[in-house]
Amino acid sequence: MQHLLTTNELKVEEIYQILQDAQRFADGMTWRPNGKLFSANLFYENSTRTKCSFEIAERKLGLHVIPFEVQTSSVQKGETLYDTVKTLEAIGVHTIVIRHSQDRYFDDLVGKVNVPIINGGDGCGHHPTQSLLDLLTIYQEFGRFKGLKIAIIGDIRHSRVARSNADALTRLGAEVMFSGPEEWFDSHSLHSSRFLPIDYAIPQADVVMLLRVQHERHQKKGSFTASEYHQKFGLTIEREKKMKPGSIIMHPAPVNRNVEIADSLVECSRSRIFKQMKNGVFVRMAVLKRSLESLNGGYINENAYSE
Ligand code: CP
Repeated sequence: MQHLLTTNELKVEEIYQILQDAQRFADGMTWRPNGKLFSANLFYENSTRTKCSFEIAERKLGLHVIPFEVQTSSVQKGETLYDTVKTLEAIGVHTIVIRHSQDRYFDDLVGKVNVPIINGGDGCGHHPTQSLLDLLTIYQEFGRFKGLKIAIIGDIRHSRVARSNADALTRLGAEVMFSGPEEWFDSHSLHSSRFLPIDYAIPQADVVMLLRVQHERHQKKGSFTASEYHQKFGLTIEREKKMKPGSIIMHPAPVNRNVEIADSLVECSRSRIFKQMKNGVFVRMAVLKRSLESLNGGYINENAYSE
């Protein structure tokens, strides 16, 4: 059984395998597991992209998606995450996607459940499928990771995207630079990447990856207004003009327009923000395929592939 909980647990060759499968799905490959299989998406935190693209990915693979909403489930009667997952496992769900506000919520599940868990984001911890779709987007653009300079800019401390990407990109040979408000920088759980002033990082970056300001995770109110943040730490029109030729803009979204990035740059020619979302479906198909293939090996149809 193959969970996907963090990028750290994936070997480099496994990352490339997932990206290769995702690209094949993007190029039109169809793959179906044998039998009638069920999936459930447990989102204890809000989501548009991750939840909807997992659901599309599941349907494209022919899975039957069990409707599950935290607000109308027995979670409201106090049922724990563990008992919820054990219940879904008992009634026959074959794969479960979970997003939860608690860092490493999955530590309570691993070793105790027999259904593959795919992490759709845990607190400030990890967001492995976002990282994989970011990697696919970068690879499609440059055909490599080695030697690329990636500037990750913004609310680093509260960003599970920054943590997952810093780990994966560094191991794949890219150089990660961080920038943003120093009070939101936390070097402890991040790789030994450099923290640079934004106007030094942007002109040398191949990828400018902006992060959402995550107000919901802040203990106290920030010391700047939205407009001050934009001028000090955002991708303004003036800063975009200083980007390298051929460099691209990324953002996991949702975007706070005119805060992390100027409104008009969200859909500019350098922006890959909507491409990232599109790639999210293919990456999630590849991750689901990996989990389902690990289930006794028994669900795989010999004629499952067609390109
Ligand atoms: N990027 C991302 O995780 O978006 P959602 O919160 O909408 O899923």
